[in-house]
Amino acid sequence: MAEHIIGPVAELPPGSHRVVKVRNLEIGIFNVGGAFYALPNICTHQFGPLCAGTVNGTTACSAATDWRFAWVREGEILTCPWHGMEFDITTGRCLANPKVRVRQYPIAVEDGIVKLTL
Ligand code: FES
Repeated sequence: MAEHIIGPVAELPPGSHRVVKVRNLEIGIFNVGGAFYALPNICTHQFGPLCAGTVNGTTACSAATDWRFAWVREGEILTCPWHGMEFDITTGRCLANPKVRVRQYPIAVEDGIVKLTL
């Protein structure tokens, strides 16, 4: 396993994301409310560029929303640009099918620098 420097935290403020190339992999780096996540830039559906998608929330209808449709989890959901599958950035799970998930790479901040481990 090797550490790869992504860059200063200041260049990836909360709510931002970018796709980086490390070795032969494209990896999306996401700052969700100050916590960093790293996901592969490949969708589980038809291998679209998942991390080029938008980061938003999603609609939900549950006891937590008083059984009404509501917009929830703003800033935590990644939508694939090809066919719109939604993934929870914090877990990698697909919202439509929680048995499907994308990998999450170890990522950490040390001395103000975001570092990815592969
Ligand atoms: S390739 Fe991502 S939803 Fe189809």
